[in-house]
Amino acid sequence: MKICVLPGDGIGPEITAEAVRVLKALDLKLELEEGLLGGCAIDAAKDPFPEATQRLAKEADAVLLGAVGGPQWDNNPRELRPERGLLRIRKDLGLFANLRPAILYPELANASTLKPEVVAGLDILIVRELTGDIYFGQPRGIEMRDGERYGFNTMHYSESEIRRILRVAFDAARKRNKKLCSVDKMNVLECTQLWRDVATETAKEYPDVALSHMLVDNAAMQLVKNPKQFDVMVTGNMFGDILSDEASMLTGSIGMLPSASLDANNKGLYEPSHGSAPDIAGKGVANPLATILSAAMMLRYTFGNEASALQIESAVKKVLAQGLRTGDIYEPGTTRVGTREMGDAVLAAL
Ligand code: IPM
Ligand code: MG
Repeated sequence: MKICVLPGDGIGPEITAEAVRVLKALDLKLELEEGLLGGCAIDAAKDPFPEATQRLAKEADAVLLGAVGGPQWDNNPRELRPERGLLRIRKDLGLFANLRPAILYPELANASTLKPEVVAGLDILIVRELTGDIYFGQPRGIEMRDGERYGFNTMHYSESEIRRILRVAFDAARKRNKKLCSVDKMNVLECTQLWRDVATETAKEYPDVALSHMLVDNAAMQLVKNPKQFDVMVTGNMFGDILSDEASMLTGSIGMLPSASLDANNKGLYEPSHGSAPDIAGKGVANPLATILSAAMMLRYTFGNEASALQIESAVKKVLAQGLRTGDIYEPGTTRVGTREMGDAVLAAL
């Protein structure tokens, strides 16, 4: 198993170090190679996704990523921003399927800002299309028109792009509670009318899964009103960006949520759903669990090793049951620990 490790910026290096320790503790044949992505790559190579990293990522079976970004690069031109490295590696590797689970761990029920009865037992999977939509659409830009600045972007999807992400979502729903909600804005946008049509057509291949459709504004509302009505949600790149942040906060602990971005052959990039948290970088207090759980997703989706994935996931549940908490999920009565101690506890539980 060839794994390319990209620690990135901010808390990235601290949290990936713990995930790597967990992977190494399992009895697996691993080959790990480290590379630069994001702000650290801009500083070292004047490119957020340098050639050396492109090569490493291409040759690997999977990529484990920490996080990218930080205030010191915020004013750089667009091509020299850390986020650009992330968008390029997704596109370069053809990682069109982004899986973002939002699970509420019973031990962390108080972390949510919503009433416990609304979120208890929450288990949603958001499937977000990741290489199309307005994120990558041309034409785009800011230019002068009629004596004033004019900004424009283009939303677009081909039916084959829609069909392949719908199939990923239907397959996922099939392994869960067999309910899929497709989110669009067909009352206004033609592009998403096509999305809805293709979703309805694809549903014929999956008679055992119940497909529903929802407009994105209503979906945003339903997610906070009654989130447990959802099993799997599927949507385009931009709506998925927004709704997955919203869904993660239903659990109150974004520091716990992993994600997977897959190509058509289950090659994948695995990263925590949270960002680089520059405010706490280097302090040893960040929560490594989302990255450790991302490593579990890697074993499950890219390497088909369900047993080791479950082993990691139950180790994480065990340390939560022991009452260990990093600052982001701390509450009185529990034991506050740092990044390294949390990693130690997971290793012990393994
Ligand atoms: C995410 C992030 C990225 C996105 C940014 C950092 C480019 O918000 O992974 O959700 O918008 O896709
Ligand atoms: Mg986002």
